[in-house]
Amino acid sequence: MKFKGLTIGIPKEIMKGERRVAAIPDTVRKMVAEGATVIVEEGAGVGSYFSDEDYKAAGASLVNDAEALFGEADIIIKVKEPLFNEDKGKHEVEMMKEGQCLVSFLHPAAPSNHRMIKDLARLGVNSLTLDGIPRISRAQSMDALTSMSTVAGYKGMIMAANTLPKFLPMIGTAVGMIRPGQVLVVGTGIAGLQAVATAKRLGAVVHAADIRPDACEQGKSLGAKLVDLGIPAEIAVGKGGYARKLPDEWLLKEREILRDVAQNMDVLFLSALIPGKRAPILITEDTVKSMQPGSTIVDVAIDQGGNCEITEPGRIVEKHGVNIIGILNIPGTIPTSSTWMFANNIYHYLTNLVEDGIIKLDTTDEIIASSLVTRNGELVHQGALEAMGPA
Ligand code: NAI
Repeated sequence: MKFKGLTIGIPKEIMKGERRVAAIPDTVRKMVAEGATVIVEEGAGVGSYFSDEDYKAAGASLVNDAEALFGEADIIIKVKEPLFNEDKGKHEVEMMKEGQCLVSFLHPAAPSNHRMIKDLARLGVNSLTLDGIPRISRAQSMDALTSMSTVAGYKGMIMAANTLPKFLPMIGTAVGMIRPGQVLVVGTGIAGLQAVATAKRLGAVVHAADIRPDACEQGKSLGAKLVDLGIPAEIAVGKGGYARKLPDEWLLKEREILRDVAQNMDVLFLSALIPGKRAPILITEDTVKSMQPGSTIVDVAIDQGGNCEITEPGRIVEKHGVNIIGILNIPGTIPTSSTWMFANNIYHYLTNLVEDGIIKLDTTDEIIASSLVTRNGELVHQGALEAMGPA
């Protein structure tokens, strides 16, 4: 019995507008079958249409007090990092206790989370972040970031289609033929490839640009026309096959190429990212000025600063006649599907973390080592330590 004797707590998310939850009745049922006691905060699943009755039927106990839930659980699973709970007048971290284990998206390198991470260490909470899961085959079923990028690719493209003052597909009408929309996807990683597939389904002519040859091949195999950025693979690709930060001369060259292409596009979907770094600025304000009026930019890289120089985080703005979508937390806008994927990912993550009712913080396991943030009162996450600089 994997989870024998352990209490797993699932609080209601408190971030404004967050509708996802870390477990669904199906994953609760599996945890209970493996010996766990599962406690769920009342109403935790309502935003993604999972009812309290369904959790109860799956074997969970419901509690109506977040503080009691945090107090009782051995493992807390959450979607968003701990935040200040306005109702309780207390930070969620302050409701946690020594030796407790927290699994969530913690984004520990982000400056806004440094204080919270230090508090987790101070209180002796052992925390693990899902954004640290490596993209290796053994971890695929746990990779919540990939799941959420899939959502961002799909929904981001739907948002673009919704904002565009034109049809995306070719439409034959009695008064003539309407030509299909032109879409350029920049950065065909997980989010970008899903955006390519979605734009194809919507009937657009799709173009794709990436600096990694593998990503270009994948875009092409989904039917995109490739934009040649002319950047040699040895400059573009680094350790583990991930993209590298480009030297300035190559970045300037790329911006020029994209500026020329952007003028003929109706939609720019921006999803270029270098792991652990600020997203590169690829679309300048001048490029936006040169685009056709009424065209749309969706900058899903906005969580990492954005690929367009003038995207505003969390807002949809019209600038120089172009609609620029900088909406954050796109997965939260498809809460049922996002929750279904997230809950399954975190369930798989727990099955790797726990053995016979013991939480193994075993750093010889690559998945655990790269997601561990705090352990036994210490901050151990390399990215966070680097971002914090010398004490
Ligand atoms: P990924 O790492 O799978 O893909 C990024 C791609 O960008 C890679 O293929 C890489 O080669 C490419 N790239 C890097 N530098 C480039 C450059 N200079 N020019 C062209 N391509 C370049 O990342 P993933 O998971 O697809 O995420 C993409 C973005 O979407 C991230 O910023 C991520 O945070 C964001 N995202 C946003 C969400 C939201 O709600 N707004 C939700 C999920 C993801």
